[in-house]
Amino acid sequence: MPRKYTILVCRGPECGDKRHSADVHAAFKRDLPTTPLGGNEVVLDLYSCFGKCQRGPNVLVRENLPTDNPMMLRLMPTAGGRATLYHRVLPSEVRRILEEHIARGQPLTEFTQRK
Ligand code: FES
Repeated sequence: MPRKYTILVCRGPECGDKRHSADVHAAFKRDLPTTPLGGNEVVLDLYSCFGKCQRGPNVLVRENLPTDNPMMLRLMPTAGGRATLYHRVLPSEVRRILEEHIARGQPLTEFTQRK
């Protein structure tokens, strides 16, 4: 059964202006249509700030379930065990996130452990 994911790229002043998170968001927009996702679906959006600016740009990948409350997820997207927050993401790493996390369901722990 296809899985549904939300990908959020932070765009607060620190990550947006100083760490160029718009380039990461643009890389997702560029790579999403051309990367095989194993039939899974992705909604890409921006998010104000995850409170981890010193480790940004940050990208949250979250698997969505039919039982999720969309309003709660919008307010607290990192809540629960199905959210993975990637740190210091480069535009060149976006395709790998799509191939491994979205298509294969394998989060990239090396990106989550960056200081
Ligand atoms: S703006 Fe990226 S975590 Fe704050």
